[in-house]
Amino acid sequence: MTDQTITSVSRENRVFRPSAEFQRQANLGSFATYKRLYAESVNAPAKFWARQAKELLTWRRPFKEVLKWKLPHAKWFIGGQLNVAENCLDRHLDTARSNKAAIIFEGEPGDIRTITYKQLHREVCQFANVLTGLGVGKGDRVAIYMPMVPEAAVAMLACARLGAIHTVIFGGFSSEAIKDRVNDCQAKVVITADGGWRRGKIIELKVNVDRALAGTPSVEKVVVLRRTGNATAMTEGRDHWWHDLVTLASPMHKARGFDSENPLFILYTSGSTGKPKGVLHTTAGYLLGSMMTTKYVFDLKETDVYFCTADVGWVTGHSYVVYGPLANGATVFMYEGAPNQPGPDRFWDMIDRHGVTIFYTAPTAIRAFMRWGDDYVKKHSLASLRLLGSVGEPINPEAWMWYHTLIGKKRCPIVDTWWQTETGVIMVTPLPGITPTKPGSCTLPFFGVVPKVLDENGKEVPKGSGGRLFLKQPWPSMLRTLWNDDDRFKKQYWSELPGYYFAGDGARFDKDGYLWVVGRIDDVLNVSGHRIGTAEVESALVSHPSVAEAAVVGRPDELKGQALVVFVTVKSGVTATKELREELRAHVAKEIGALARPDDVRFATALPKTRSGKIMRRILKEIAAGGEVRGDTTTLEDFSVVAALQSQEE
Ligand code: WT7
Repeated sequence: MTDQTITSVSRENRVFRPSAEFQRQANLGSFATYKRLYAESVNAPAKFWARQAKELLTWRRPFKEVLKWKLPHAKWFIGGQLNVAENCLDRHLDTARSNKAAIIFEGEPGDIRTITYKQLHREVCQFANVLTGLGVGKGDRVAIYMPMVPEAAVAMLACARLGAIHTVIFGGFSSEAIKDRVNDCQAKVVITADGGWRRGKIIELKVNVDRALAGTPSVEKVVVLRRTGNATAMTEGRDHWWHDLVTLASPMHKARGFDSENPLFILYTSGSTGKPKGVLHTTAGYLLGSMMTTKYVFDLKETDVYFCTADVGWVTGHSYVVYGPLANGATVFMYEGAPNQPGPDRFWDMIDRHGVTIFYTAPTAIRAFMRWGDDYVKKHSLASLRLLGSVGEPINPEAWMWYHTLIGKKRCPIVDTWWQTETGVIMVTPLPGITPTKPGSCTLPFFGVVPKVLDENGKEVPKGSGGRLFLKQPWPSMLRTLWNDDDRFKKQYWSELPGYYFAGDGARFDKDGYLWVVGRIDDVLNVSGHRIGTAEVESALVSHPSVAEAAVVGRPDELKGQALVVFVTVKSGVTATKELREELRAHVAKEIGALARPDDVRFATALPKTRSGKIMRRILKEIAAGGEVRGDTTTLEDFSVVAALQSQEE
């Protein structure tokens, strides 16, 4: 790949301005305020962040210095001490928030629980005492492998309260994945449940833990929450029921302050190759970032009912289900199960019943809703919604418009938020009521963020051309290192271009300075010398009325370098025919240009995805090339999808 730029093929140019009504009540006031504060945040970061940290966080001991930056290692708010759990709970207790709902929970079977700040505080204190009793203290690692229930948040906050480091492992991961992660961080305690509900079935979490623990010598104790009531084997001496321990524990717990840079959590994220990386986040900078972005990006108000559909096993669940919203004293709506249980309108039904005002989800989910059909949405009013968010991958304009029209009823701003496990919190995003939006663009940087789109020589590419996305200066919630692997940290993120953080994404700025992320750089194709982001071709495919979802990969081609192979799932009621195949090729050529006309269109009933909904193009690439699927498939959600794709090859 010698060509340095990425040919951008998107022709999206619609602009949506915020309504005067939304703007009047927006937390940040106006675009002028955003611009003034943004300028301060990048020109005088120490001053800006010192003020934010003092205003937003409750400190046990004030910090002396804002930032020590010894590239690539940052230390923020040095000398300061605080307690994360105290910031999320205790400080709301002598205010009107004390009896406000912190969490409204709905289980998949339909059970509902509302937990006030006072109650959540009590549960966290009790569980902190339980953990102390099990020998957990500052710096110890605790693995959390739980369903999406309030106790998952209780476990995280109890660790934070003790200065212990949690690592949440998504409940959809296998025992192999648990074993690897637990061994990598040498966790002492595992917190799990007898099971969780998903699509009407029980996910046997404890069984997976038992299997994993055959190979994890570091684990001394296992705490098991009774969630489903199914029969569960308990290992004498090692395993304890959550409810047994909690009844014996005192609800009083005096929290200590911890250093700003005390580790808060490790979160494993799978690279496209090799073993998962243990991204390490620390106390003060992370909390400030998650609190501040929640407040401004979601325009949070005291009366909001906020629903982020992410599982706590992902960073989105950490920052925007637990830490960000609770530090703000918000009401979080939490749902345990599948979006189509018992029917495809479960979310819309819950939004109406609980009066959800803010809804934050992923493009892959939005495309599923589109596929299930508009009627499921139209059965519900959705009148309580006032703001929508998207995260996880580029949102194709087609899905954006559907979200805007069907869910937001053209009334709700959409915040398309670009960020990563590594960045900790939202980096590039519209501010609702303030930033005009364009379908598919994550728009402008949040405070303190300086995104750069550069070519392989580190030169800025002209506006409108694609390149690789970097972040120029340190920010408070940035990852501090990779657990046990500082070399990989340096190599992965800081070696591409000295002094810059390499995000691994391809992107471009448009003439208005809006950022368009076109996907992971590994997903960039080179067709006849043009580097094309897969996301843009996929977006063109999905704009065809018959297409539900599309994935584009390259196959080695003597003539073009790479040939474009597209995998397509069609909407319900549509038949995949030869004619449709030709129509789709013509459609892409029309939308983008002949250079992007797919060489090969393959119909599939489903696409291979990671458990967080990201399409695994690596696997499709192997199928497209006609080879075996090799390499790590442990992050794959459903292997039968791959088998089906392979079997239909001729
Ligand atoms: C990668 C990070 C961020 C929390 C969830 C995923 C892609 C994420 C967007 C967006 C375009 C996006 C990027 C990024 N991504 N949000 N709004 N527009 N791309 O966290 O698993 O660490 O993945 O997701 O490629 O690098 P993650």
